[in-house]
Amino acid sequence: MSNQARETPLPSQKTLGILTSGGDCGGLNAVIRAVVARAIQGYGWRVYGIHHGTMGLLRRPLEFEQLDLRISTVNILRLGGTILGTTNKGNPFAFPMPDGRVVDRSAEVIDGIRQLDIDGLIGIGGDGSFKIIRRLAQQGGFSLVGIPKTIDNDIGATETSVGYDTAVMVATEALDRLQPTAASHDRVMILEVMGRDAGHIALAAGIAGGADVILVPEIPYRIEMVAAHIDQLRRHGRNFALVIVAEAVSAPAGGSVWQHHKGGSPTYGGIGHVLGEGLAELTGAETRVTVLGHLQRGAPPTWNDRLIASAFGVHAVDLIAKGCFDRMVAWQNRRVVDIPLAVAIERPQRVDLDGALVRAARGLGISFGDR
Ligand code: F6P
Repeated sequence: MSNQARETPLPSQKTLGILTSGGDCGGLNAVIRAVVARAIQGYGWRVYGIHHGTMGLLRRPLEFEQLDLRISTVNILRLGGTILGTTNKGNPFAFPMPDGRVVDRSAEVIDGIRQLDIDGLIGIGGDGSFKIIRRLAQQGGFSLVGIPKTIDNDIGATETSVGYDTAVMVATEALDRLQPTAASHDRVMILEVMGRDAGHIALAAGIAGGADVILVPEIPYRIEMVAAHIDQLRRHGRNFALVIVAEAVSAPAGGSVWQHHKGGSPTYGGIGHVLGEGLAELTGAETRVTVLGHLQRGAPPTWNDRLIASAFGVHAVDLIAKGCFDRMVAWQNRRVVDIPLAVAIERPQRVDLDGALVRAARGLGISFGDR
């Protein structure tokens, strides 16, 4: 952690802040690199990288560093994670204190922003982070541009977010590796993937990785239907099956399956094992379960995530240069555009039940366990 002394800026020199917030994912460093390159080379600005999202603004001394062009030339384009650090807890409007109290610490974060004396902030986050940072920006009167990142791909109004492609690549590769061992042992393999309340990772990786069954939270299923599909595959001579399930899918008896973490909020996790037991019972097949977990987040970014991250980073800096704030950059119809942040966080993006991917999966004979 560093808290560098600030030089006095030139009269026309702007200072930009950048932070990463929420769960990490592949491509965050590529965004940081692009923002630094554009801000310094394109406009001659200074860039402060704030550590651990809004946590760096809560701590005193403030936790940040001045980023320079060296980060454009070293390897961060290729690196998973975020060199700035991030957090997906500690909402400053409802901050959990060590003594158990929940306190509004937003004024301290805003004071931190004022101390940094920045002309604009680029927040790289998901919809939860955007809601918080936007509220801070409104309360503190500072200028904000958002860049969407999330492996879950659940941010409205952008076709894709930084990190999603990498997560799908990891899940697809997992199916590639599960298939030979499934076939060797006559097994039903269940792969549980992340995605929070959306099934985008399961749907995309399920199609790309040749799954026989895809279970997503948007499509209610019956385990008997899944078992019937596996039986049918067997009748046609198949000795194995691949099932991919999104973490938020309900258990056959109803209700989500959760993992509890000491001192933290629960996260989805465990539906794969529930299904594994249920399918073993109904089909008589041997089942094995793989929970992919954070491997989907920490992988080096794919070319596609690096590309989107780079285009988003440049566009976000250009927006600040034009004085356009309270906007989120987005990918729409093969173009980088920007939309009001309020619109982006209005409605999460769920799997489109009549969309091309669901139709493609059904056309391929993949079961969603619903018919
Ligand atoms: O939102 C990203 C995500 O990876 C979800 O897919 C998952 O449910 C959650 O974060 C896991 O959070 P944590 O990093 O706290 O385990």
